[in-house]
Amino acid sequence: MDKLVSLGKRRGFIFQSSEIYGGTGSVWDYGPLGIELKRNVKESWWSRMVHQRDDVEGVDASILMHPRVWEASGHVEGFTDPLVECRVCKLRFREDQIDSSKCGRKPSLAPGHHGECELGEARLFNLMFRTFMGPVESEGSVVYLRPETAQGSYVNFINVQTASRQKIPFGIAQIGKAFRNEITPGNFIFRTREFEQAEMQFFVEPGTDEKWFEIWLDERQAWHRSLGVRSENLRLHEHGSDELAHYAKKAVDIQYKFPFGWKELEGIHNRTDFDLQRHREYSGKRLEYIDSGGGKRFVPYVVETAVGVDRTVLMLLSDAYREEEIEGELRVVLGFHPRMAPVKAAVFPLVKKDGLPELAREIVKDLRRAAVPAFYDESGSIGRRYRRQDEAGTPWCITIDGQTSENGTVTVRDRDSLQQIRINASNVLEWIRERLAFPPP
Ligand code: GAP
Repeated sequence: MDKLVSLGKRRGFIFQSSEIYGGTGSVWDYGPLGIELKRNVKESWWSRMVHQRDDVEGVDASILMHPRVWEASGHVEGFTDPLVECRVCKLRFREDQIDSSKCGRKPSLAPGHHGECELGEARLFNLMFRTFMGPVESEGSVVYLRPETAQGSYVNFINVQTASRQKIPFGIAQIGKAFRNEITPGNFIFRTREFEQAEMQFFVEPGTDEKWFEIWLDERQAWHRSLGVRSENLRLHEHGSDELAHYAKKAVDIQYKFPFGWKELEGIHNRTDFDLQRHREYSGKRLEYIDSGGGKRFVPYVVETAVGVDRTVLMLLSDAYREEEIEGELRVVLGFHPRMAPVKAAVFPLVKKDGLPELAREIVKDLRRAAVPAFYDESGSIGRRYRRQDEAGTPWCITIDGQTSENGTVTVRDRDSLQQIRINASNVLEWIRERLAFPPP
């Protein structure tokens, strides 16, 4: 993890937020390469969940919602973690994670294990961030930063269904920021207080929910594999009754083997009709579906797929990171699947003269015009330029040399095999496009 954090900063993937002020441990900023990687994750999810299907529509609901939403959803009452405070060092810990937490004293032991530790009674702490809507800071103007995107889809169920003329079963997908005042954030971007979710709520007829749960569980695993991660690093974990969220009848996590162990990446939940029934009760509106064919009326059940975008980015970084020794030198590589790589091709003139920079810039321009992210670099030795791109995860480096002006060919160097081949400069775009279309192994 330390290596990932340091590479993340060195190459411009992820920076500590507000670093010049000492940083905050619980939020992170994406740099130039990180934002491209994150965008690739979101675009892949949106393409597969919305654009490639007839039965899922997208929304982008607001972060600030009517406060009654969170009463109806159960978050005001039940979105809590048990918090324990040490009266001596004033640090706070999650009671259910106390054995894996570290106390503030040196040497750092689990809280309660130092002679001076004085742990108080556990009390429930609500994870929602509160703020005020408008100029008056009173109880009547309290609003919350949403802790999940899902509720924005439920409150828009009738709007979306009517506007899109969808019939059950159908889904509402959304990508957006969520906020949780986690007691123990940590592990880089794994658990933060501000993060992004990609969630889809699939509305089905009661009785068909279990079938749809299995369909979505398979589909979501297929998406993770499509990102090129090693399948031996993915597994499922079904929640026992003590782990189930207040809304769920069944929940299965897709877990990834992060450097700090197997952890949840995505949750697939059978939320029954809990949310729509509660919004029906709290809003007094008829949140039900009327089947125009048979005239059947029912409150749909919901199968939810909920993945963390930042956790997916961390998975891709962890899965891609490798170190190799090449001719006695350490090579650090991010072996992303080309479709996920922030930059697809780096183009180098071998020397800064003889018209080579101009030829290289032409190729970069062609690639960019075709929306293939390309990077031009003429500084340093070719070896150094290769190493920088290996650390950025760029799959192909294209070098323009003396032969280019003679016979129109360029060298393409493959990040993983290190093989170099010559192809026609005029074929570079086509050559890359073919490989981007190729599915992962
Ligand atoms: N709507 C259901 C829901 O929010 P969840 O399991 O609490 O379910 C879904 O969250 C996903 O959001 C998680 O699997 C995880 O990937 C991501 N996530 C949740 N809390 C997070 C946090 N504090 N930091 C980063 N990602 C988080």
